[in-house]
Amino acid sequence: MRHLLGVEDLSREEIVRILETAEAMREISEREIKRVPTLRGKTVLNMFLEPSTRTRVSFEIAAKRLSADSINLSASGSSLVKAEGLKDMARNLDAMNPDVLVVRHKVAGVPQMLAAHIGVPVINAGDGAHEHPTQGLLDVFTVQRVLGSVEGRVVAIVGDIAHSRVARSGIYSFTKLGAEVRVAGPPTMIPPGIEILGVKACLSMEEALDAADVVMMLRIQRERMERPLFPSVREYSQRYGLNRRKLALAKPEAIVLHPGPINRGVEIADDVADGEPSRILDQVTNGVAVRMAVLYLITGVES
Ligand code: CP
Repeated sequence: MRHLLGVEDLSREEIVRILETAEAMREISEREIKRVPTLRGKTVLNMFLEPSTRTRVSFEIAAKRLSADSINLSASGSSLVKAEGLKDMARNLDAMNPDVLVVRHKVAGVPQMLAAHIGVPVINAGDGAHEHPTQGLLDVFTVQRVLGSVEGRVVAIVGDIAHSRVARSGIYSFTKLGAEVRVAGPPTMIPPGIEILGVKACLSMEEALDAADVVMMLRIQRERMERPLFPSVREYSQRYGLNRRKLALAKPEAIVLHPGPINRGVEIADDVADGEPSRILDQVTNGVAVRMAVLYLITGVES
């Protein structure tokens, strides 16, 4: 891997390789001393130009557990506020010879643009509504760890599909590993022609959840909406919120995922988010392992 810009670019074999590596990395995080010298002397530059809790912190923890130096840069603390162009800033950062640049940006395509103009490997930590590859990878990793396999599983993704980079990376990840993916949400939040990605667009949440193995709920991405796309939060919650009654449509052993941050009582009820089927915090734990794996593979230290 030269860069990790999207799961769309990865082969099934590359995904499997990342998941196998993540399994080994998870073991490191369970030790009393959670640090190995693998990336000693490497520098990971985390450039988060859009808010983040889980992704930013887990990339930093992942780098530290591998003994890399980790530098964090936010938009407000950078010379972007002095009108420096993003490409210029990235070239200056590249001139300091980091080994990896992790970038999150509200505009789709920014990681691709930077990868074309600088020498350092780029990892996309979320670009607009395009992709969030490490999220998609940690989602399949979580399903594989809990259910034993991804192939043949029925995965229902519910909510704001149109604005969700998590949904796109999840769709690529699950379909490449042989799962059946269904999507459901308000018609205004389902991109026309989404079937081209190999998913089934369902007319109702109930149809999507029928005998599903995995139910992935999405946050309404208000920050990417130019105008309201549903009449009221109450109606949205009634039709597309996950509660115990709707979850009963899925398989008895079905698990619930959510990338976070969650809106309790909107897309997910408290007793589902905090209950036994929820694997939301496992996703967060697995995110560290997957990001350790990606940092390890992208820096090429194994070769
Ligand atoms: N899942 C996710 O990307 O969360 P953050 O926005 O907190 O990083």
